Amino acid sequence: MLTVSNLSLQFGKRVLFDDVNLTFSKGNCYGVIGANGAGKSTFLKILSGELDPTKGRIEITPGERMAVLSQNHNAFDENTVLNTVLMGHSHLWRIMQEKDVIYAKADFTDADGMKAAELEADFAEMDGWMAESNAAELLSNLGIKEDLHGLLMKDLNGNQKVRVLLAQAIFGNPDILLLDEPTNDLDIDTIAWLEDFLADFQNIVIVVSHDRHF
Ligand SMILES: Nc1ncnc2c1ncn2[C@@H]1O[C@H](COP(=O)(O)OP(=O)(O)OP(=O)(O)O)[C@@H](O)[C@H]1O
Ligand SMILES: [Mg+2]
Repeated sequence: MLTVSNLSLQFGKRVLFDDVNLTFSKGNCYGVIGANGAGKSTFLKILSGELDPTKGRIEITPGERMAVLSQNHNAFDENTVLNTVLMGHSHLWRIMQEKDVIYAKADFTDADGMKAAELEADFAEMDGWMAESNAAELLSNLGIKEDLHGLLMKDLNGNQKVRVLLAQAIFGNPDILLLDEPTNDLDIDTIAWLEDFLADFQNIVIVVSHDRHF
């Protein structure tokens, strides 16, 4: 659950939000609508913590994970396409990195063995063995074919990058998913896939879109 309490935001003299109270609960897909410049993107930035409100609080149920469609298309340029998707689940990604470091050690101690066993348990609990194939399947569903999965993000065009970032946000079944205009660079088939995906999504989605049908 995501709760917004007594939220206000002002840019200089302009009041964008004044004492907003809202609760977003599991199993719902919320559409944020409003004219250009009304404050939709700003609202999502406050929810994600990227921007501090002038007043008020945002609270997430402890233990829940929020994922956001990244608006910075070049942030992952030095990473491979597949890894960029995996990085969407930062906890799982960190465990994968730690595992790699430990197994690469020349002097593997008993303590390393214990640490590795702990990491493996967490990894398995997060469905880690399926992570790469799940990420690859998501990418393919979003029109990024397998021959692109090993490339660096900087070698993709803008339209392809957006699709990868969408896969990144969706990856690993987040509890709360924030999407600001996700359909902008998508073709009709991919939009239809995303519609079905969101219709079946069991958690919380908050989406901004200018596409009325979507
Ligand atoms: N950092 C900032 N400082 C001052 N004003 C800002 C800042 N960020 C956004 N604004 C202003 O706040 C208003 C809301 O912007 P925002 O981008 O949230 O609108 P939006 O509803 O997402 O619009 P669009 O439909 O065009 O995407 C706009 O008038 C914008 O110029
Ligand atoms: Mg916007």
